[in-house]
Amino acid sequence: MCAVKRMEVFEAIAKRRSVRKYKSDPIPEEALLRVLEAARLAPSAGNRQPWRFVVVKDAGRRAEIAKAANDQRFVAEAPVVIAVIGESKESRWYKQDPMIAAEHVCLEAAELGLGTCWVGAFSEPEVKRILKIPEESSVICLIPLGYPAESPNARGRKAIGEVFFAEEYGRPYPA
Ligand SMILES: Cc1cc2nc3c(=O)[nH]c(=O)nc-3n(C[C@H](O)[C@H](O)[C@H](O)COP(=O)(O)O)c2cc1C
Repeated sequence: MCAVKRMEVFEAIAKRRSVRKYKSDPIPEEALLRVLEAARLAPSAGNRQPWRFVVVKDAGRRAEIAKAANDQRFVAEAPVVIAVIGESKESRWYKQDPMIAAEHVCLEAAELGLGTCWVGAFSEPEVKRILKIPEESSVICLIPLGYPAESPNARGRKAIGEVFFAEEYGRPYPA
């Protein structure tokens, strides 16, 4: 095997899971700030950074958000919910860029032993109302964040031969 420098980021990628059960233990502020910094350092088209992040700790607000997220109760269980917002006035990549930042959040959280889950099923008008998000802004996703109270098994992924192609679409890579 060729000498590949071991990259810690791969460990975080491999161990991340969607966590849907959380302990109520608070997240140390240092860890929370680190996770947010990972979002802030994400790449964006033209470095426009058309993102905002609302950090929600208040239990009442979290419960309201969980309700707005198709009543997915686990969202309120996590001690923190991060609402990831895209600013369409700042970039035409206002959806893609915040999504990259959101995944940075999930990976850095995994590195720190914190659980997350992408939540895309929610009523945008409701979340906007609860968090006082301006009309022209878009809610891209919600990320509950907390110490996991479950260790989910890895979900399966499509086979390598199904998703990697060599030179041309449909020609398996590696051959
Ligand atoms: C854009 C997006 C939206 C998602 N929305 C939800 C959701 O609303 N509720 C939920 O429980 N999981 C949601 N998920 C999590 C996926 O179900 C999960 O990533 C997938 O099943 C793979 O599992 P893993 O994350 O543990 O590898 C979402 C994931 C993505 C990327």
